[in-house]
Amino acid sequence: MKKYDKIYQKDPDYFGHTSKQFTTTINAFDFKEGLVLDIGAGQGRDALYLAAKGHKVIAVDSCATGLEQLRERAEEKNFPIEIVHRDALGYTPPKDLDAIVLDQFFHEVPNNAKVPFLKRMMAHLRPDGYLLIADEKSVLPMLRSALKEAKWDFIRDKNGVLFALKPV
Ligand SMILES: C[S@@+](CC[C@H](N)C(=O)[O-])C[C@H]1O[C@@H](n2cnc3c(N)ncnc32)[C@H](O)[C@@H]1O
Repeated sequence: MKKYDKIYQKDPDYFGHTSKQFTTTINAFDFKEGLVLDIGAGQGRDALYLAAKGHKVIAVDSCATGLEQLRERAEEKNFPIEIVHRDALGYTPPKDLDAIVLDQFFHEVPNNAKVPFLKRMMAHLRPDGYLLIADEKSVLPMLRSALKEAKWDFIRDKNGVLFALKPV
């Protein structure tokens, strides 16, 4: 059995609530009822939070156990969450997303794939779309550099959170 299947089976609420930093940032989105992609969604703490705010969410993860737990919770609340069970590195999202969130995902990605994957995702956001990354501090410098190189505006770059806006 894969690592996260084991973890999520043991505890259906392994990561607990969406972090305060994350909710503060999500609450700063300047759109309502947007289309938001949650990559490495896990058991769905962020996807459920986003859906409760009125957004349509696409939740991608390679772990079936976490996604099943998410599906049950989403169905209970009648939330419009599209669940995609696959390796995110080979996933092509729709164009013109309003936001992409990656909460504790990038440290799972091999180093040589991090920036190419980020760049591919950056292309799927609409102009003025939001990118929200929360992760271990060690993985952020290369992601920050790629965003700076592409002239993205940083709304927040603090305490393991990169929150950036795609230039128009
Ligand atoms: C640390 S957990 C974070 C889960 C969730 N974002 C949260 O903050 O609660 C990392 C998640 O990334 C998923 N993951 C890791 N590599 C992946 C990949 N290549 N494609 C899709 N999901 C992946 C794992 O299955 C796991 O659910």
